[in-house]
Amino acid sequence: MARLIDGKLLAQKMQSDLAQKVAQLELEKGLVPGLVVILVGKDPASQIYVRHKERSAKQAGFYSETVRLPETISQQELLDLVEQYNHDARFHGILVQLPLPDHIDEEAVVLAIDPDKDVDGFHPVNTGRLWAGQPAMLPCTPAGIMALFEHYNIDLEGKHAVIIGRSNIVGKPMAAMLLAANATVTMTHSRTKQLKTITQQADILIVAIGCSRLITADHVKPGAVVIDVGMNRDEQGKLSGDVDFASLEPLVDWITPVPGGVGPMTITMLLEQTYQSARRFAILD
Ligand code: GUN
Repeated sequence: MARLIDGKLLAQKMQSDLAQKVAQLELEKGLVPGLVVILVGKDPASQIYVRHKERSAKQAGFYSETVRLPETISQQELLDLVEQYNHDARFHGILVQLPLPDHIDEEAVVLAIDPDKDVDGFHPVNTGRLWAGQPAMLPCTPAGIMALFEHYNIDLEGKHAVIIGRSNIVGKPMAAMLLAANATVTMTHSRTKQLKTITQQADILIVAIGCSRLITADHVKPGAVVIDVGMNRDEQGKLSGDVDFASLEPLVDWITPVPGGVGPMTITMLLEQTYQSARRFAILD
């Protein structure tokens, strides 16, 4: 029977610790970490995510601003706004919620963000820093997974970590972080042949494919650690992961639930990185 990796609990603890650190920073240095979140259009999922980010930032004591822009905004107007926040010293973190409308080039917008305010860790400068082993702003979901490994003392050294999914947001940065932690990393994806024969060798299996309950008991080695990044709606409209939790749970050693596993850690890491960014801008670290 697996032990549960409880992201909700760790996220609550980290966010309450962070609120204390933020209060202390304001008291001692008069510095309040600032986060601006920019949302374009009315994508329903994005609206929910942005509301959560705004609420969590306020709860942690941040200076928080959310800019809601119409779907019709031009790319140049958005780039100009990002540039304005790059130079606004009240903000140490800038996040442009993705996806953007089709007429806006996401890559151009990400490139416009000052890499030192890029709390999503999506700017290629941060990608390069991460792969080069330099201090970097990190994509929040894999950074949250690393925080879970650390909190639960899950040893990565020399372990075979298999990642399913090669996105820039999760799969690829996850590989860099696991390598840096001395794991042996295998990347797999939608075109991988004989997926099961690879996943069956995993000591650590990280699943980020966006396909409801695709990973079943016959994909895993008994005693593995399983991290489910999926957030899907099943046929009944119920929230489900990429992993069939019920069939894996009796077999594996550690597993994340959905919801309450990886998800809550993402916002926590966003806030943590904004706090760290504020300290760096004030040359406290
Ligand atoms: N859309 C879905 N996830 C994310 C995220 O982590 N950051 C941003 N900016 N947009 C997203």
